[in-house]
Amino acid sequence: MKAAPPSSSSAVLHKGFRLPYFFTIMTLILFMTILYSEDSPAYLRLSWATKKKGEKLAFAVGEADSSCDVLSGRWVWDDHRPLYEEAECPFLHSPMVCQLYGRTDTDYQHWRWQPNACSLPSFNASLMLESLRGKRMMFVGDSLNLGQFYSMVCLVQKIIPSDAKSFTRKFNGSLRVFTAKDYNATIEYYWAPFLLDSNSDNPSVHKIGKSDRVVRKDSINTHGDHWRGADIMVFNTYLWWMTGPKIKILQGGTFDDENKDIEEVATEEAYRMAMKNLLRWVNKNMDPIKTRVFFTSLSPLHENAIEWGGDEKGNCYNQTVIGDEKGSYWRPSDCDKSVMKVIGEEFRKSRYPITLLNITQMSSYRKDAHTSIFKRQWRPLTTEQVANPGTYADCIHWCLPGLQDTWNELLFVKLFYP
Ligand SMILES: *[C@@H]1O[C@H](CO)[C@@H](O)[C@H](O)[C@H]1NC(C)=O
Ligand SMILES: *[C@@H]1O[C@H](CO)[C@@H](O)[C@H](O)[C@H]1NC(C)=O
Ligand SMILES: *[C@@H]1O[C@H](CO)[C@@H](O)[C@H](O)[C@H]1NC(C)=O
Ligand SMILES: *[C@@H]1O[C@H](CO)[C@@H](O)[C@H](O)[C@H]1NC(C)=O
Ligand SMILES: *[C@@H]1O[C@H](CO)[C@@H](O)[C@H](O)[C@H]1NC(C)=O
Repeated sequence: MKAAPPSSSSAVLHKGFRLPYFFTIMTLILFMTILYSEDSPAYLRLSWATKKKGEKLAFAVGEADSSCDVLSGRWVWDDHRPLYEEAECPFLHSPMVCQLYGRTDTDYQHWRWQPNACSLPSFNASLMLESLRGKRMMFVGDSLNLGQFYSMVCLVQKIIPSDAKSFTRKFNGSLRVFTAKDYNATIEYYWAPFLLDSNSDNPSVHKIGKSDRVVRKDSINTHGDHWRGADIMVFNTYLWWMTGPKIKILQGGTFDDENKDIEEVATEEAYRMAMKNLLRWVNKNMDPIKTRVFFTSLSPLHENAIEWGGDEKGNCYNQTVIGDEKGSYWRPSDCDKSVMKVIGEEFRKSRYPITLLNITQMSSYRKDAHTSIFKRQWRPLTTEQVANPGTYADCIHWCLPGLQDTWNELLFVKLFYP
């Protein structure tokens, strides 16, 4: 439900000051203060978030089938997949092009997510581009969101002739921009692994050891200033926070200060601070009538084969078979659980309707879909690594085409059929 603006009180004021009116106005002011305060309990707060019956969210073309939970389902084989070929998408970035770097099995490209109670509408690149006419879609976050961004670019670019599309990097590489010229539309990605200002923000040199990572408190505007004007935002942030039970937070000053004020804060608490900061930015900068905001949940890792009954020393390396509900092995750590809890709690309080893309469970079945060893290696491999490829397998990122195309099919559904 959208809060109606307070009705004009000029009629009241014209009659001059009278005590009953004074009380009415004071009560009204008090009431509005409670309604719009971020600290007031959710049941008291009027929310911009929930839509009025019959009222459409921006970009909606239809309604969700309310009897269908698109997240409960399974992976089914589909001969008509993948939705594009790796070699067809010239913009694809080296860490995702697994076939080019030696992966020979292709089963991982063929799975389609099948909800139990309905089917996902197929991804319509033309609808996506028409809807983005004169608009900007922006992904902001870490390298997992970068993968989702490239998947989106690949999904739409195939219907655009080669002279009507381009790709550039700006702000020293922090921003990547795919432009569909005839649509005057852009799909962008902005590197901000914590969303907030951190010492890991250099888009090319950001390998910072877990214990050395520092995030500056309440600093979302540092990056946020570059996101204004986007019509669709897709955020994520998770993995970089996983530094252990605590993380270093810069309370004031700059990262280079001699005597900087750094405090070790419980990860859950720090993550909550970031979510609150994000929501404040969204509430201030995004218009709930015209724009949409998404947040992609934790992307599961497959670093311990023992979790799915595999070899003690194994991981996603040489995994070509998917898991299923019965063999579900997303064993969230305590930290994962508390981060999920924080996301749920904080987003429920948001005045702006934020749509969670909860890809965690469905992705947890996909130990087969990681980049593994099939990516560009930045350093020459040692003889030990060559002898034992599992030791350098990347069980965090995903091959494209592949799993992350489904994340965007989910985004497609939530955008057009909310
Ligand atoms: C895809 O979207 C376009 C533009 O909205 C529409 O004309 C077309 O019918 C859609 N295609 C399918 C298969 O739904
Ligand atoms: C192109 O889109 C931008 C927003 O991304 C808008 O400001 C601009 O006016 C548009 N230009 C034309 C020619 O439609
Ligand atoms: C690029 O990086 C340099 C050095 O870190 C910095 O001085 C400059 O402001 C950056 N430029 C942009 C556009 O962010
Ligand atoms: C990969 O897995 C298959 C069984 O799934 C096994 O036969 C093979 O030896 C494994 N290869 C390596 C290099 O570990
Ligand atoms: C996302 O889905 C997982 C698994 O179904 C669930 O445990 C988690 O609570 C959900 N996250 C949120 C924020 O709702």
